[in-house]
Amino acid sequence: MVHRPYIVGNWKMNGSRALLAEARAIDRGAARYKDVAVALAPPFPLIGLLRDEVSAIGVGGQDCHTAPKGAHTGDVSAAMLADIGADFVIVGHSERRRDHGETDALVQAKAEAALAAGLGVIVCVGETLDERDAGHAEAVVTRQVDASLPTGDGVAEAATLGRLSVAYEPVWAIGTGRVAAVEDVVAIHAVIAARLTARFGDAGAKVRILYGGSVNGENAAALLAAPGVSGALVGGASLTADAFLPIVAAAGTGEL
Ligand code: PGA
Repeated sequence: MVHRPYIVGNWKMNGSRALLAEARAIDRGAARYKDVAVALAPPFPLIGLLRDEVSAIGVGGQDCHTAPKGAHTGDVSAAMLADIGADFVIVGHSERRRDHGETDALVQAKAEAALAAGLGVIVCVGETLDERDAGHAEAVVTRQVDASLPTGDGVAEAATLGRLSVAYEPVWAIGTGRVAAVEDVVAIHAVIAARLTARFGDAGAKVRILYGGSVNGENAAALLAAPGVSGALVGGASLTADAFLPIVAAAGTGEL
C-alpha cells in the first residue's frame, strides 16, 4: 500500500486564537480531498485549541524534547503532545538546527522519543546554500538522513504504517520564495529513498519524502507530480485557507 500524499502546514511562531478560523476553513476544505492526508503544526499554545476545532486533518507539534518528563524548563515532551491530542511532531527543522544548535544526534533522539510516545514524526533535512554551491548537497543530506532518523525495533513498523516521514527542505529555499528546481528535488529525493531502503528494506519505501521550501499554490502541482515526492511541508502558505487549500488540491485527484 502506498500512503496518501501528505500536505503539512508548519505555522512556525505564527498565529493566535484568531487564526483558528483559518484552521477551521482548512479542515472543511481538506475534508473534500479524502485522497490527501492534511495536517497542521501550530505553535504549542494553539495545539489543544486547534485539535478541538478540526476533525478531518492531523494536528502536530513543531518540536519535542527527548525525555518524557523532567526538569527541562521551557521544553515540551512528545508524551505531552500526545496527551493533548497531537498526532505527530516535526523534528530537526533547519530553524531549530540553526537557532538551537540541534545536532543530528539530538534530532534522532527526539524522533525516537516521538515514536515511543505513539506520535508520527517528520524528520527534516536539507543543505545550506554554501553546501549546495560547494557541490555537497547530496553528501550533507545523506549524512543527515543517516544520523537523524530514528533507530530501534519499532521504526520499520512505524515506516510501514506511514508514521515516519522525511522532509527535504533546502535551507536556501525556506521562506525565500526561491523554490528548488524540480530536477534537483527529484535527485535529492532519490538519494534519500536509497538511504531509506538501505536502512529499512521494504519498509523504507513506505516512508513519505516531503519537499519543503517556498511551496505555494502555483508551484505545488509540478513539485508534487515529480517522481519520489510524496507530499509537502509548507510554511508561509499554510497560514490561510486561501493559500493552503490549492496546495492540498494539487496533491489530490480532485474533490471526492
Ligand atoms: P516556507 O517554509 O514554505 O515558508 O518556505 C517551509 C518550512 O520551513 O517548512
